[in-house]
Amino acid sequence: MKFDYLFRNVTVIDGSGGPEYRADVAVQGDRIAQIAPAISGSAQHEIDGTGRVLAPGFIDVHTHDDINVIRMPEYLPKISQGITSVIVGNCGISAATATMKGSVPDPMNLLGEVEHFIYPTVAAYAQAVEQAKPAINVGTLIGHTALRNNHMDDLYRAATEEEIAGMREQLRLALQQGGLGLSTGLAYGSAFQSTTEEVMALAEELAAGKGIYTTHLRSEFEPILDALDEAFRIGRHGKVPVVVSHHKCAGAKNWGRTVETLKLFDKVREQQDVSCDCYPYSASSSTLDMKQITDEFDIIVTWSEPHPEVAGQSLKQIAESWSLSLQEAGKLLMPAGAIYYNMDEQDVRRVLSYPVTMVGSDGLPNDPMPHPRLWGAFPRVLGHYSRDEKLFPLTVAVHKMTGMSAARFQLPDRGLVKCGYYADLVMFDPDTVQDVASFSDPQQPAAGIEAVMVNGVMSYGRDKQVIGRAGRFLRR
Ligand code: ZN
Ligand code: CU
Repeated sequence: MKFDYLFRNVTVIDGSGGPEYRADVAVQGDRIAQIAPAISGSAQHEIDGTGRVLAPGFIDVHTHDDINVIRMPEYLPKISQGITSVIVGNCGISAATATMKGSVPDPMNLLGEVEHFIYPTVAAYAQAVEQAKPAINVGTLIGHTALRNNHMDDLYRAATEEEIAGMREQLRLALQQGGLGLSTGLAYGSAFQSTTEEVMALAEELAAGKGIYTTHLRSEFEPILDALDEAFRIGRHGKVPVVVSHHKCAGAKNWGRTVETLKLFDKVREQQDVSCDCYPYSASSSTLDMKQITDEFDIIVTWSEPHPEVAGQSLKQIAESWSLSLQEAGKLLMPAGAIYYNMDEQDVRRVLSYPVTMVGSDGLPNDPMPHPRLWGAFPRVLGHYSRDEKLFPLTVAVHKMTGMSAARFQLPDRGLVKCGYYADLVMFDPDTVQDVASFSDPQQPAAGIEAVMVNGVMSYGRDKQVIGRAGRFLRR
């Protein structure tokens, strides 16, 4: 038998969480064709994998890449980490199904400008992805805030019965067309006034379509236990799995409290399907939010529409140079983006090592000075947290970014190195894999990622260039 690709003598970490093993792995077409201790056939391309790990391509379950995967289809920030699939549409904001009447509301402005919102249905979005042929696979959630913006004239109030009915209808169609589920961003002003009942009504649509509910909680600060309780209630009501997005305890007064939140997860997991995602850093990033301005920790301004010249400076520096208070300076900078050093390292470690935590980057690809998670989240878990800090074994790290994620988001035939599965694969050097992107120099490809294959097409190699684009739209 002559295969297309043959990885010789690799250490397979298959994504299931099980032990690693030595093998040859053959690829034919877009699938994994054979896995054996020594494959006798030959191949078009043979790759010596001695000393290297072969793992399923990583799945970034928390992204805001909706528009960027179409506009910049090479998508180096992600493929260079070994990521072969991204889930877009998180935190209540999706490009799929969003139509803009006027200006783009916060935080939908994280995704792009008004002229980029041209995908009124999941079908239209899927077609655009397929036409653009990005280097990575793309699946989408449907954003609650996007639905609100379509059906309401004012986002800063609760939706009426009629508006909810309109949102439900649109969500139903979106799920039929392959949307993976519903996401909310209840902490943001543009969704904060929605009632739990409003979200519950939408969640009812998910049960029928077996979708998933992901949520940027109503609060990640002091009221976090109530916010978790709300999320779990919505899941129970809709009879759907819940994913708590970028789980953290934000704000200095809240540090250490993941002991409590994870205890609640433990308890609730006995009765319902709940999990979370996490990025491996103790600083967060989003739009600049007046409610989050504080002198308790550093805040770096990453962009500002009226004052682009201050990007990269701390809010404190800016306020001092303008002889203003932090609040006054913040007001003048809006709309703007920020990095908040608002987490405790021990909390990050606790969440990351929790058994049902998946890795998600939450990277913000339009930021001129992005949080380094955009380029570094996955190799940082492998190199820094697993190898160097020994937070958990490499097999567990890989499971949290592959098998666990594919099962949660119901991505068939992906997330494992297994015969018959799609050949989404990453080969990396376990001794050198590492994030290179830093807060001061955030746009850097990772070290140690040596080959990335998407649907059987070799897409990224040692010279850190994108050499193939074979990503597909992932329908539920
Ligand atoms: Zn979020
Ligand atoms: Cu997010």
